[in-house]
Amino acid sequence: MQTIIEPFRIKSIEPIRMTTRQERETILRAAHYNLFALSAEDVLIDLLTDSGTGAMSSEQWAAVMRGDESYAGSASWKRFEKMVKAVFGFEFVIPTHQGRAAERILFSIMCKEGDTVPNNTHFDTTRANVEYQGAMAIDLVIPEGKVPEAIHPFKGNLDTGALEQLIAEVGPEHIPLIMITVTNNSLGGQPVSMANIREVAAIAHRHDIPLYFDACRFAENAFFIKLREEGYEEKTVKEIVTEMFSYADGCTMSAKKDGLANIGGFLCTNDAALAQQEKDLLILTEGFPTYGGLAGRDLDAIAVGLEEVLHEDYLTYRLASTRYLGEHIAREGIPIVQPPGGHAIYIDARAMLSHIPPQQYPGQALACELYLEAGIRSLEIGSVMFGKTEAGGVEDTPAEMELVRLAIPRRAYTQSHVDYLVEAIISVFERRQDIRGMKLTWQAPYLRHFTAKYEWV
Ligand code: F0G
Repeated sequence: MQTIIEPFRIKSIEPIRMTTRQERETILRAAHYNLFALSAEDVLIDLLTDSGTGAMSSEQWAAVMRGDESYAGSASWKRFEKMVKAVFGFEFVIPTHQGRAAERILFSIMCKEGDTVPNNTHFDTTRANVEYQGAMAIDLVIPEGKVPEAIHPFKGNLDTGALEQLIAEVGPEHIPLIMITVTNNSLGGQPVSMANIREVAAIAHRHDIPLYFDACRFAENAFFIKLREEGYEEKTVKEIVTEMFSYADGCTMSAKKDGLANIGGFLCTNDAALAQQEKDLLILTEGFPTYGGLAGRDLDAIAVGLEEVLHEDYLTYRLASTRYLGEHIAREGIPIVQPPGGHAIYIDARAMLSHIPPQQYPGQALACELYLEAGIRSLEIGSVMFGKTEAGGVEDTPAEMELVRLAIPRRAYTQSHVDYLVEAIISVFERRQDIRGMKLTWQAPYLRHFTAKYEWV
């Protein structure tokens, strides 16, 4: 059979609610054109994020009932720790309530003022946590990674030449760790190849610098390696994951993505002294080291999710459903980051709305139009998220790209939902010349996209 189907059937449903265009206009105005400020019940198809928004399986819900809520040494913790070690292979596992808590603990211990942390591309919370320590977050993705229309099988790869140059310039003693984000979320959910991981690890270890993964979408990355990298066709996803993580000294993880859970995360390391420091800080802010801010039932749901996410029928469906959306809109001429990534499709708003300058946030304008058109919630990843007004400046220095991300929650929507999305996006595309830019009327000092207020220009 050629048709790829959802490898599950549905036994519990959640109604979603249609609104009229007129209702949506009122709602969006009241939200100051910030989609984070909408009530979820006013959204029809929610593509704001793939983080914590997926559907859990019946086995995960069964595991929730097995959750042991003992404060210390619970059976849930034992099952969680065993599964994390089996999948990722690190010696020490530190549970956290989500990915950014793992980041905060890692960077507060490893980074100090004046340090530099290279990454293929920092996610926004990762960058903010590095910068909060007074360190510099440097993005070193390969040049193809920054060209939306460029086709490359591993557009998330880290530029090893640029890495060598950075190490020579700042000195290895000022680089406390190197990070690789799999898949590269900020620039299109693009994978990193095993060859690149191996090369970066060799450079890091030659300079005695630890290598960490931001592992959020590790299973999707591993499946791309299986599909696209020579020599991995016959390997199981589990074997590929084992090899990937064998090159690293640790990782941060948000279990809200490839943990197939609604909350949770962890931090891993092979360094006993570091693990001790991390646990000490964990107790101060997250919780005792056998629960780290999570309920026992969450730990159990993650343990099952980490096993299910490696199933190849799941990963086949996952990548196919994302690709289906991308291919159907690209075929109509809508510019997207090519090739389609693992968890999301990214529309190139700079190319689609070329009449709107970056200072008028074409990505935010497009995200608002998609909501007005069809009740779709998406996310601007452009000059709102990454642009900055320098001290003393009046205008933003724009981001390198103006993208709108359509993130696909795991196992939550079916193909007819995607067909609806395709129709809505095409309809907005057809009237693109009439879309106006936006201006900020209020912004917070950092991570401004979460709370900013806007008006149409
Ligand atoms: N790293 C990456 C690559 C991420 O995509 C995220 C979250 C995090 C770290 C932080 O994890 O949310 O559990 O604290 N990304 C979500 C998104 C929020 O929508 O892409 P968290």
